[in-house]
Amino acid sequence: MSQKVQIFDTTLRDGEQVPGCQLKTEEKVVIAKELEALGVDVIEAGFPISSPGDFLSVVEISKAVKHTTVCGLTRAKKDDIDVAAEALLHAKHGRIHTGIGSSDVHIKHKFKSTREQVLEQGVWAVTYAKQKNYEVEFYAEDAGRADLEFLARMIEAVIAAGADVVNIPDTTGYCLPHLYGKRIQYLFEHVSNIHKAVVSVHCHNDLGMATANTISGLINGARQAEVTVNGIGERAGNTSLEEVAMTLQTHKDLGLYTDIKSERIYDISQMVSEMMRMPVQPNKAIVGRNAFAHSSGIHQDGFLKHAENYEIINPADVGVPSSSIVLTARSGRAALKHRLELLGHKAEGQELNNLYEHFLLVADEKKMVDDNDLQALVASHLVLVK
Ligand code: KIV
Ligand code: ZN
Repeated sequence: MSQKVQIFDTTLRDGEQVPGCQLKTEEKVVIAKELEALGVDVIEAGFPISSPGDFLSVVEISKAVKHTTVCGLTRAKKDDIDVAAEALLHAKHGRIHTGIGSSDVHIKHKFKSTREQVLEQGVWAVTYAKQKNYEVEFYAEDAGRADLEFLARMIEAVIAAGADVVNIPDTTGYCLPHLYGKRIQYLFEHVSNIHKAVVSVHCHNDLGMATANTISGLINGARQAEVTVNGIGERAGNTSLEEVAMTLQTHKDLGLYTDIKSERIYDISQMVSEMMRMPVQPNKAIVGRNAFAHSSGIHQDGFLKHAENYEIINPADVGVPSSSIVLTARSGRAALKHRLELLGHKAEGQELNNLYEHFLLVADEKKMVDDNDLQALVASHLVLVK
């Protein structure tokens, strides 16, 4: 039987940390409602103690969403947890996301502390957060570079203290997919109480591995994926929501599913991009302008014969209105014929050959041949044959 993967969306927290992407509370509420309609399980709405604006956003999102869990980030500090608990008061389901560094580099150079002290502080933070009567998620920051035995000890201790979810972040995007997967597997094998908590994966994209690492973590037993729309986030970004959802939908053989209503993906991608003034790169998987555009002759011909020759996802499944055949000097007759037909002009045989020769001249002049160019091409051809 297929197992559910919870989608924890952090577009409004990790995503919003991107310079220049800051949103007003009203805008965050609009996105949060769309995320709920999209089917995410958890919305990380902000870091309440970080600013009055973030606090207000968590309050307003808690009021606005109907059933999705709303989460507030904290450090392993009393004031952070108190403020997050207050911000979540209106949430139908609230979650405090607390944690501390787990790698030696963080312990030594960020906290100037010791393994034993950070472990103790993590356990204290979970115990304290649990008293607030919300779900508690613990993050072991920089777990991707942490000593595995120590990480396992830390995770076991915070689960014993009551953590409902344990997040194993690859904070610096350092891991390789098979090694990140092995980390998750190691925790399942060495943390005696691991089945009392949901294991969550939170991967950054510094080496372009965020989605691959996330999927590897899920294959190895994690059941929550932390993601952002369009993969936005610190530095090179976070794991992208659309890539995880569509990977699981495309590879049903993995036996994992999400509740994401995939046909809403494109609209929310556009909305987040516009509101955050963060353009989507054209070749971005699933939601980029070129994700369903075919431009070389061989691909166009194959696509027009049978879409599955060159598409593994039906664009309608992610809310993209249609695939597109882009006309360039690399396009062939099949593509030209198809685009002319869309404009109501049927061309065959010699007529198509003549038009194609003209078309190549135009295409060599311009990068892309658009409908206006095609209309002019047909008109000039008609003049020539009169
Ligand atoms: O990348 C990270 O480690 C984080 C934590 C705060 C969860 O964003
Ligand atoms: Zn992060």
